[in-house]
Amino acid sequence: MENLNRVLLVYSGGLDTSICIPLMRQEYGYQEIVTVTVDVGQDPKDILQAAEKAKILGTRHFTVDAKEEFIKDFCWTSLKANGDYQGYPMSTSIARPLIAKKAAEIAKNLGIKAFAHGCTGKGNDQYRIEFGIRVLLPEAVIHAPVRERNMTRSWEIEYAIKNHVPIQQSLEKIWSIDENLWGRSIEGGRLEEPDFQPPEEIFQWTKSQESSLSSPQNLNLRFESGEPVELNGEKLSPAKLVIKLNEIAGQHGIGRIDIMEDRMMGLKVRENYECPAATVLLKAHKALENLVLTREEIRFKAIIDQEWSRLAYEGLWWDPLKQNLEAFIEATQKRVTGAVQLKLFKGVVTVQGRTSDWALYSEDLASFDTTTFDQRESTGSVKNFGLQSRMFEQLKNKKGM
Ligand code: ARG
Repeated sequence: MENLNRVLLVYSGGLDTSICIPLMRQEYGYQEIVTVTVDVGQDPKDILQAAEKAKILGTRHFTVDAKEEFIKDFCWTSLKANGDYQGYPMSTSIARPLIAKKAAEIAKNLGIKAFAHGCTGKGNDQYRIEFGIRVLLPEAVIHAPVRERNMTRSWEIEYAIKNHVPIQQSLEKIWSIDENLWGRSIEGGRLEEPDFQPPEEIFQWTKSQESSLSSPQNLNLRFESGEPVELNGEKLSPAKLVIKLNEIAGQHGIGRIDIMEDRMMGLKVRENYECPAATVLLKAHKALENLVLTREEIRFKAIIDQEWSRLAYEGLWWDPLKQNLEAFIEATQKRVTGAVQLKLFKGVVTVQGRTSDWALYSEDLASFDTTTFDQRESTGSVKNFGLQSRMFEQLKNKKGM
């Protein structure tokens, strides 16, 4: 049953989304607020805190555990595409469509058509969240109060105090943090200055190079059809594997990323990330692909992967081009089955070996020590190699260019 007096707020428990609750009542005229927090692996304390605040602020609150779905359907899809945008594994980007999907599912069940979210007008998330909701519920009405009212942080704080919104934790926070199992992003404060050296306190999942474990650790990862299935011989569910690998790789200081990033609307921003598991998995996956795919597939797939990553960064999860690219990617991944051995040490992950039944490598052909490959047969092809380039060089000399 449709009820026009109800609105579903995509809720993190932070300042932006918390002030949306009284705002929805006072300024937007809704009587009932439903809040939804999607657990994609953020700090469990934040999830609990969101539920507590929702209770204080009198909403009907839902917490949805989407961790396994996030890794299986979103992170693994991205891994198969070697998902990367300007050096960033897109942890925040690929969680937004899932958050939108879960919000849309709950809204559908409750017969709610109105949504609200706390995104500002400067970032990428507004595009990702709104696209995700609209693609699944075309008739959705979506409010973005922070953007619509061009709010400043000080206005938000004042409004929160006036309306008894608990904000103590928000006041203590210097950094703006977004977390899920694929990575942790830290922005804001002086980090916005491209030449400000990130202080050690912003990192929570990774040790610094100096304080990371003093001896290296070997790791064995098994993949089936492009998806990680085993860590050091132990079969693990997708989310459990990532949680464990985040811990292991974080101890070795792996996965710190500091980049200048071009946001969708053209803003260049400084971003810091911690993505230990994603960093290791991306490296291992690529190593296995390089063993089993043909040279032509590897070259062409790099182009496909880059296009896929751009669409994923923009949150166009249900775009037809993206789905068509995935059809190609999936076809290549059938053979990405095998194991990769890695070494973790002092912020660096090194590939040490790879095996697969689908390896296109032949020791007999590549070795320096066999005669299966008759070297003499290469003579003609070497002689004709670079024919056009050589002709061009001669022409240049002749014409005195
Ligand atoms: N720039 C990244 C992205 O658009 C991450 C943004 C994360 N947000 C945050 N409040 N830290 O995907």
